[in-house]
Amino acid sequence: MSKYQIAVVIGSLRKDSFNRKLADAIVKLAPPDFSFKQVQINDLPLYNQDDDANQAESVKRLKNEIKSSQGILFVTPEYNRSISGVLKNAIDNASRPYGQNAWAGKPAGVIGISIGVIGTAMAQQHLRNVLAFLDMPTLGQPEIFIQAKDGLFDEAGNIGAESKQFLQNWMDRYVAWVKKHAD
Ligand SMILES: Cc1cc2nc3c(=O)[nH]c(=O)nc-3n(C[C@H](O)[C@H](O)[C@H](O)COP(=O)(O)O)c2cc1C
Repeated sequence: MSKYQIAVVIGSLRKDSFNRKLADAIVKLAPPDFSFKQVQINDLPLYNQDDDANQAESVKRLKNEIKSSQGILFVTPEYNRSISGVLKNAIDNASRPYGQNAWAGKPAGVIGISIGVIGTAMAQQHLRNVLAFLDMPTLGQPEIFIQAKDGLFDEAGNIGAESKQFLQNWMDRYVAWVKKHAD
C-alpha cells in the first residue's frame, strides 16, 4: 500500500480527453510511495442545496475518496476561459453541507492542457480562486500550462522527450508539497 494516495480529478468527460491523457502520463513520473486514483465525477447529480441533508451515494463516495486521500491532483481543461461545469459541479458537491467540506486542508496540485496557446492559464487561475476558498494548500510553482501538440505524448502514452524534464520537475515539487502538507 502506497503511503500517499492521491485523488485525481479530471475536468473533462470526453473519451479522448487530452487532460485524461496528461493525467495518465504524469502519474508515471511519481515515486513508488505515491499512488493515484482517478475519481469518478460523471455520475454526480447537479448540485442542489436541497439535497444537503440527503446526499446521493455518488457524492458520498466522492467525499470519502477525497477524505481518505493525502492529496488532490486537479487536471483541468479550459472552457470559455474558465473551468468546466462538470469540474465545478464536483467541487461544489464535495464542499457541502456547510461545515463538511471534504476538500479542506488537502494539498492540491493544478495542471491542465488545452488546444489554445495559453494552455488553460485562465481556467487554472479561476480554479485557484475556488481552492483558496475551500482551504486547500495549493502548489504555486512551477505552473504548468500545456498546449496540445504532436509529440507531447509518445506512442505508449508517456510524456514525450521534449516535455519530460519539465513535467518531472513539476511532479518532484508536487510530491514534496504533499509530503509537507498531508495530515
Ligand atoms: C465549451 C468549450 C469551451 C472551450 N473554451 C476554450 C478556452 O476558453 N480556451 C482554450 O484554450 N480552449 C477552449 N476549448 C477547447 C479545449 O481546449 C479543447 O476542447 C480540449 O480538447 C478540452 O480538453 P479535453 O481534451 O481534456 O476534453 C473549449 C472547448 C469547449 C468544448
